[in-house]
Amino acid sequence: MKKLLQIIYISRSTFESHDVTNKIEPNVARILAKSRMNNRVNGLVGVLYFGDGVFFQCLEGEEDAVNSLLTKLEVDNRHKDLKVISKKYIDNLSFGDWAMKFAPLDEQIKQFLKENNFQTFDPYLFSGEIINKFLNLLFNSHDVSSDLNQANSLNLAAKNVQDKTTAVNSAQLKSNLALILSIIAFVVSLITFFSSRNIV
Ligand SMILES: Cc1cc2nc3c(=O)[nH]c(=O)nc-3n(C[C@H](O)[C@H](O)[C@H](O)COP(=O)(O)O)c2cc1C
Repeated sequence: MKKLLQIIYISRSTFESHDVTNKIEPNVARILAKSRMNNRVNGLVGVLYFGDGVFFQCLEGEEDAVNSLLTKLEVDNRHKDLKVISKKYIDNLSFGDWAMKFAPLDEQIKQFLKENNFQTFDPYLFSGEIINKFLNLLFNSHDVSSDLNQANSLNLAAKNVQDKTTAVNSAQLKSNLALILSIIAFVVSLITFFSSRNIV
């Protein structure tokens, strides 16, 4: 049996966050929609939190799948300063039902930051103990993206992701078709050329 790995990383978003009171930031919604689609296929689970321009993500799954996503995350230019703050083998998946749970900045998290003397969400300053406490909080938090309004905006983001993929695929199809047609035209003109020389 393959080993299960859990990683926690933090990173800073490179996009300007839109002011979205009570809604999921649109860039984050797109990331979340794509993550859920991919993670289901790759057997990955976890939780994503976004606050004050900083991501905190816990990912779990088979070692190869987690490492291969990490390689993609490292070159994703929607975030920077990616720092893996915890990496360990686990016996069972903690987020078994969540292709990617999304935790909002709610009162509970505000309270948690206050209790630990943080003015803003800055996990770069978290100790190991605070990381564990925060993960626990995310584990127990309510995923707002399953609420009706948020689910609609996520579905929209998922549709955009799918539309983009379809557009890329159809552009690729068109260019392949053009290539095949020009090869056929070239072959036909060669045949015409040689057969006309034979006739003469
Ligand atoms: C903060 C953040 C979290 C992400 N989380 C995931 C994730 O859980 N799963 C995933 O497949 N992609 C995730 N991505 C996107 C990946 O970096 C990458 O763009 C995507 O996996 C590429 O998918 P593709 O190979 O299907 O094109 C995340 C990106 C960011 C910026």
